[in-house]
Amino acid sequence: MAGYIPQEIIDDILNKIDIIELISSYIPLKRAGRNFKALCPFHQEKTPSFMVSPDRQIYHCFGCNEGGNAFNFLMKYERLEFPEAVDILAKKTGVKLPEGKQDYKTVSINQQIYKVMELAAAFYQSNLNTLSASPAKSYLLKRGVKEETIKLFRLGFAFDKWDSLINYLRAKNTGLSLLEKAGLIIAKQGGGYYDRFRNRIIFPILDMKSRTIGFGARVLSGSSTGEDDSQAKYINSPETPLYIKGRNLYGLNNALEAIKELDFVVIVEGYLDCILPYQEGLHNIVASSGTALTYDQVRLLKRYTRNAVMVYDADAAGEMATLRSLDIFLEEGVNVKVVRLPSGFDPDLFVRKNGIEAFKKLIQSSSNLFDYKLNILRSCYNPNQIEGRVSIAQEMLVTINKFTNAILKSDYIKKLSQELEIKEEALLSELSKIKDYRSAVFGSDEANKRPIKINPTEKLLIKLMIEETNILNRLKQCLEPADFQDERSAKIVSIMFDLFSQGKNITPSNLINYLGPYQDLCGIISELTLLPDTSEEEKEKIINDCVCRIKKQSLKNKREHLHRQIKNAQHARDEELLRRLMLEFHQLTKSAKDFSLSK
Ligand code: CTP
Ligand code: MN
Repeated sequence: MAGYIPQEIIDDILNKIDIIELISSYIPLKRAGRNFKALCPFHQEKTPSFMVSPDRQIYHCFGCNEGGNAFNFLMKYERLEFPEAVDILAKKTGVKLPEGKQDYKTVSINQQIYKVMELAAAFYQSNLNTLSASPAKSYLLKRGVKEETIKLFRLGFAFDKWDSLINYLRAKNTGLSLLEKAGLIIAKQGGGYYDRFRNRIIFPILDMKSRTIGFGARVLSGSSTGEDDSQAKYINSPETPLYIKGRNLYGLNNALEAIKELDFVVIVEGYLDCILPYQEGLHNIVASSGTALTYDQVRLLKRYTRNAVMVYDADAAGEMATLRSLDIFLEEGVNVKVVRLPSGFDPDLFVRKNGIEAFKKLIQSSSNLFDYKLNILRSCYNPNQIEGRVSIAQEMLVTINKFTNAILKSDYIKKLSQELEIKEEALLSELSKIKDYRSAVFGSDEANKRPIKINPTEKLLIKLMIEETNILNRLKQCLEPADFQDERSAKIVSIMFDLFSQGKNITPSNLINYLGPYQDLCGIISELTLLPDTSEEEKEKIINDCVCRIKKQSLKNKREHLHRQIKNAQHARDEELLRRLMLEFHQLTKSAKDFSLSK
């Protein structure tokens, strides 16, 4: 958002503007306790759910979830772009804008980061051919990655040292703060820096123009202790001005031509799940590098094809991620099919064991999303009982409702009616209820708006962190962004931690400005800000409970993840890996026990 205008100027304007004065020049505001309220100007309503806080300088509508600071209001109300809103509010507050408004420094910082990322990629790449990288090289070869593939994907190696990249780039006159902005090095507590990636195989993450924007880095063994970041199986670049998670797809630069030519794309989870099939000749393949696919990733693909096949890991997490992604494809009007791999397999393992032709066959015989979802629901609910069939129908209708094509919709209703032996009219009447509900809540033109539903525990903690710096500081010591399950919470927390480390003052209204490209997170912050305050006595208890709950959930996820790796290893009869994974599993179980004892 603030890409071209210096942050200090934005902050200055925000400090000087009065949001009550601004908004009341457009709509009548009524006092309600500490806040003001009004009928929401952004959706139809009869009772006011639009709130404005003079203390926090934030507005939020609890009806349509629209919210933000003074800039957001002006942009939305007057339909302006950000620089125009800055122009107007700068005049109102008497803040001087730099000549021509373009901050050339900001523009060139991105250029500088591209350059330093390229240098780092080349460094890691050449490391892989040195003697001390021979374990890394043989690991890759052992996993079936060929020399030419290593070159094509620009795989590399980070030495087992704290400062090899720093020293290399310092010798090339690169400033440390630039390296930190690029996410390559990390500041030490007592001053100084160290390399983020050490003793790991490097997977450069390239954008569509094949420029390096980030790195994924894997440990050399099959294992991960899963406990702290330095030992996790994969660590990735943090978010930088160039690398925004969930905005790009691994391997897209190589896959682009084949995707256009074949007019479909295969989507997998992991780096190697993408690399191995590509090497064997399946070129229209990309990885989401993580689990759940995002709207942005689907929109990116949509520019090249309207057909996708998902091949996620054959485990509960993979199935859940697939189900969630399906609705996104539908909402974006992309046809999607799904491959179910044999239990315990991921695409990389499957191709290594059975060959690419078998994999291509699976893809050809992929089931459509209707059958896939129905199949999964059949194993969740009992289709022999009416209650089970009702539950299955309810969940299928949510998906069917997302089809924009009326003919398709009625076709699927017919199919569902046959499958579940429920009358079509009954299904149609339930379907219309879904629609009515959405338009009643969001107003007809807001029907596509997704409501905010963040886990209340995470929400509460974020609220407290925004309000009190010392709570933020305390939680930063004991939680990581990744401990938060909702990816939106994790993103907000990681931005707050970053700002805090940089010594920035955090208020709800400037936090919103720092969200930059994540405008969808605005409404979450404004909502939190306007929730009722917590009393001092309650705070301690809430913090402890919340941290405990979040940690437990995070440990549970790590255990599940490890569990599925163990299953993979059993399947692959990799005794050595299995032994290590079991060890890790016990350590994790032990630390979970320690944790619950200490609470
Ligand atoms: N991932 C990540 N950070 C982690 C774990 C996973 O970013 N701590 C991402 C990586 O992109 C990884 C993908 O999620 O490739 C899938 O994870 P997983 O299935 O655990 O790994 P695999 O791809 O199977 O890794 P490998 O085959 O190298 O063991
Ligand atoms: Mn794998």
